This record gives sequence, C-alpha cells and structure tokens, in this order.
Amino acid sequence: AFIPVILAGGSGTRFWPRSRRARAKQVLALDGERTMIQQTVDRLLPLASPDRMWVVANNGVAEAISTQLPDLPRTRLLCEPVARNTAPACGLMAFIALREDPDAVLGVFPSDQVIRGEADFVNTLKRGIALASSGPNIVVLGIDPTHPETGYGYIELGSAQDLHISGARPVRSFTEKPDLASAQQMLASGRYAWNSGMFVARAQTLCQAIDEHAPHISATLQAIADAYGSAEFPEIFAALYPSCQNISIDFAVLEPQSRKRDHSHMYCFPASFEWKDLGSWSALHEHRSACAWGDADHNVVESPATSAFQSRGNYVYAPGRHVALLGVQNLVVVLTDDAVLVTTRERSQDVASVVRSLSEAG
Ligand code: GDD
Ligand code: MG
Repeated sequence: AFIPVILAGGSGTRFWPRSRRARAKQVLALDGERTMIQQTVDRLLPLASPDRMWVVANNGVAEAISTQLPDLPRTRLLCEPVARNTAPACGLMAFIALREDPDAVLGVFPSDQVIRGEADFVNTLKRGIALASSGPNIVVLGIDPTHPETGYGYIELGSAQDLHISGARPVRSFTEKPDLASAQQMLASGRYAWNSGMFVARAQTLCQAIDEHAPHISATLQAIADAYGSAEFPEIFAALYPSCQNISIDFAVLEPQSRKRDHSHMYCFPASFEWKDLGSWSALHEHRSACAWGDADHNVVESPATSAFQSRGNYVYAPGRHVALLGVQNLVVVLTDDAVLVTTRERSQDVASVVRSLSEAG
C-alpha cells in the first residue's frame, strides 16, 4: 500500500511574528484559508485516506496539528522527542512501515510548500508510485529551476529512457545545497531540476539505502521501530532518538545514492504542477502577487481595507485593520496581537537571525 509520510518538524522562524514556537509555519494559514499542513494532507487525499498517512512532527506543534487534522488518527501523529532533521525522521518511518507491511511504498512530503494544479500533482505522483513499486527505485519529483537558489537540491537529468512508465528521467547526480557558482553553472546547463523534497520508494528500498549510506543511524532507528506499538515505545524513542546524527535525507541518502550512477536506481519525474517553497515573507509576497492577490502595483495587503498611493511591491499582513500605504516600496509589515515586524522584502530572509536574538520570540 501507498503510505504518505508528511514531515512537519522545523520551526519556521522566518515567518516571525506570525510564527512562534507553537505556531510554526506548517500550522499557519499563509496562503488561503487552510494551513500548510492541512493543504499537504488535502492534496494527498485522492491517493490515501488519513488513517494510512503518517505525520512526523515535534512536540511544539503536535497539539496544533492534531486540532487542525481531526481525521488523522492520533496514533498516526508521531512526535519526535528532539529534532534530528529529515534523515532520522524518514528513516524511522521506513523501518516502522516495513514492519507493518513488507510491500509498503512510502511517499515523503514536506509541509512547507504550496502546490497549484492538484490534478497534475496526483497524476505525477501516481506514475512515481508505479515506478517505485516496480523495483528498488527511488523516485524524486523535480521542479523546473528559475534562479540559482543555493538552498535547494539539484538533480541532473539523464535522457528519457525506454521505461514502461513514461516521463521518468534517470538521475545522473544529486547535489544538495550547492554554492552559488555551482548553482549558476547547473542552472545555465539546462540539464538540472530542483529537488522538490518529495520522493517515493518502497520502505524496503529506503531501509536498505539507510543501512548502506547512514549505518550510524540505521541500527538505532531499527531498534526504535522494533519497539513501536509496545508500552515501552515512548521511553525507548526518547532514550535512543537523540543519539541519531542531525542530518537531512538529501545529504545522508540521496546524494551518496546518486553517486552509484548507472546503478543508483534513481529516477526523476519533472513536475508539471506549480510549486513554491514558502521560505520567507518575500517568497510569500511573490507567490501571492503571482496568484493575483496583489494590486496592479504588486502590493499584497492582507487586511479588510487598504488604500495605496504611490506605493509599490509591499507586503502587509494586518487582519482586522485598515491599512494605508503612502510613497513606500518593497516593505514587509506584519502585525500580530503583540508584535510588529517592519523590514524590506530584500532583508526578509534575515528575519530568522533577528528572532533568535529576541528572547521574547517564543
Ligand atoms: N519531522 C521532522 N523532523 N520534520 C523536519 C525536521 C525534523 O527534524 N527538519 C525538517 N523537517 C521538515 C520541514 O518542516 C520541511 O517540511 C521538510 O522537513 C524539509 O525540511 P527543510 O528544513 O525545510 O529543508 P530545506 O528546505 O532546507 O531543503 C529541502 O527542501 C528543498 C525544497 O524545498 C531539501 O529536500 C532540498 O533538496 C529541497 O530542494
Ligand atoms: Mg524547506
């Protein structure tokens, strides 16, 4: 069976002051009425019912997640005792899924992205699931890159092969978070896709890859998975999980696996749906204005009433307030009950570091 694993850890400090420790990005409604985690679940519903999904989160957001996902059985929400990044999180779910069903096909889904074109998404994913089920394949979903972003993974695409599932491209290499010069080169070559962070593989395939590339965490994860379902599980989980290395699945597994070149069994489906990683206020502004939420001057103002004069490219979040903009450009202004952020779109990537120095931010 197909088992979606939704990753919902991470604190999302770049969306301060809307995000706080207990209100990380994934439980905020940044784009529309539904929160990021709700949208992630919604778009998977055509492929799996909530009782087949897993959500892996940290204690800070667990309560908000269970309130926001009333149809997710409480047992399908796994709370990590500490955050250890995505390799331990994905690995643990693979070992647990394998115990429950030796034929399980896992799909990993980050909860910090917006996707438009649900039908295309489901379609691409269906083909990915078919390819992953048919062999020891790791199938990643790739995105057409638009700029030399250094925060993403880059997938080098081989030429389309005569696979029984059309559209899949062999992966020639996988480079996680390159430096700017490499990102520029890869973008210019036209041979690369961005890694969306979504991938599909049999639980068995993933467990083997972790054994091979991350042996230091696989024994621990196996031991935790073995305890799953027993009364001692919470205790064992809390005792063992912190000893796992803090490393992403991209660095720990996908990159080394891709170095096996012709034997990597890695494939990529370039996505036809619209995809955006919402990483900062500036990214949100760009997304909302592209989706026609902005006015003709690219102001995106989330408020009941706005007057803008000689103002361009601003993002304002001020629910319940009247907003007037006069002669300002490219600002980010965010109002909550007890905090105000004023910065520029250009600097909005740096909000996280300001928040770290604000003891009040929790
Ligand atoms: N459960 C859990 N535990 N989830 C986590 C943890 C953790 O310790 N750390 C991160 N996550 C979740 C995040 O909430 C997010 O949904 C997802 O895992 C990816 O983590 P990020 O920290 O956002 O990774 P990234 O954005 O730097 O890079 C990844 O995504 C890019 C696309 O957005 C990589 O996969 C890149 O290769 C990719 O291009
Ligand atoms: Mg991310």
